[in-house]
Amino acid sequence: MRAVILVGGEGTRMRPLTCNMPKPMLPVVNRPFLEHMLDYLKRYGISDVVLSMCYRPDVIQAHFGDGRSFGVELAYAVEQTPLGTAGAVKNAEQHVDETCFVFNGDILTDLDLRAMLEFHRRVGAKVTIALTPVEDPTAYGLVETDADRRIRRFTEKPAPDQVTTNLINAGTYIIEPEVLGLVPPDTFYMFERGLFPLLLEKGEPMFGFPSHSYWIDIGTPQKYLAVHHDILLGHVSLQPPGERAGDGLLAGKDCIVDPTARIVGPVVLGDRVSLGPEASIIGPVVIGNDCQVGSGSTVEEAVVWNGTSIGEKVTVKASVAAARCTIADGAIIDGAIIADGCSIGSGNRLERGIKVWPGATLAPNTITF
Ligand code: GTP
Repeated sequence: MRAVILVGGEGTRMRPLTCNMPKPMLPVVNRPFLEHMLDYLKRYGISDVVLSMCYRPDVIQAHFGDGRSFGVELAYAVEQTPLGTAGAVKNAEQHVDETCFVFNGDILTDLDLRAMLEFHRRVGAKVTIALTPVEDPTAYGLVETDADRRIRRFTEKPAPDQVTTNLINAGTYIIEPEVLGLVPPDTFYMFERGLFPLLLEKGEPMFGFPSHSYWIDIGTPQKYLAVHHDILLGHVSLQPPGERAGDGLLAGKDCIVDPTARIVGPVVLGDRVSLGPEASIIGPVVIGNDCQVGSGSTVEEAVVWNGTSIGEKVTVKASVAAARCTIADGAIIDGAIIADGCSIGSGNRLERGIKVWPGATLAPNTITF
């Protein structure tokens, strides 16, 4: 069974974390998100995967190569300019010669793919769209089906009085190859606003597959933090790396934890993490490889990427500190996003959704509220 994963978007809402890295490569519990996706597909016997790329394909290709060391066969389809979701699959058409899964590359789900495929075959669908319920459907594209789950209508971003269902397109599809014949080549074209409405108009059998499986699209920094909380709190079946090293603590190799450090799980530490005297790590927290947390510092409900060094009496809370940052003594990072390679001088207070672009240097006490 083959799958196409769409990994070509620029991830603008996720900036500055995506300034140098495509969204599917962002670390999620210390591994590129795409690795988790490939593991999920392998669990269903899907090991033949096409990555449909546009933004920073080099980063993805350099990491995965031919895919063999990750237990999959990878092919790449690279666009020169973004072709949109359906245009991107059209660009990979040479690889799509049989029933095929298509995934958005920024969704974590434990949807039962076997059940979805069985359903697709049983009803003879040309396209099956996974559907998921959301609390406020007005921000999404709604998918209305009749009792036998055949799709009757798509409503994009409805007004509250137009809401007839809470089911939205979950970004996982099964398609028959012939539908790609309706997608114009080398043209920006979307499934949601182009191919799916066209198939409906033509009366082609298109079905929805609703489920209450875990589902989150990791599209914004808030969702990025939320997905870590969900994984660490066990809301989705994804095992974080590391060995059990205490109550609520998973740790990698060669970590040094001062006996006076306080850890309140769930916490995941990468390899070679050091926690100084009286450091407090209050979960859900993920800290990457080769990070240091200095004495008296607090890291709470936060994600810290590899190689970041946190000084003494620092607070990092409800924030993301990306790779190779230095955060000097006494800084307060609360509700902020710090991109790769930043140097935050002592005494800075970065709060209220502030975002720091890659490589920035903030002299001591530059930003305070
Ligand atoms: P935003 O810019 O923040 O909206 O993020 P995005 O660019 O990733 O767009 P969006 O979240 O809507 O995309 C959903 C999925 O489709 C993601 O996995 C994207 O990587 C992928 N995607 C979006 N547009 C394209 C495209 O033009 N080409 C390819 N190959 N993939 C795309």
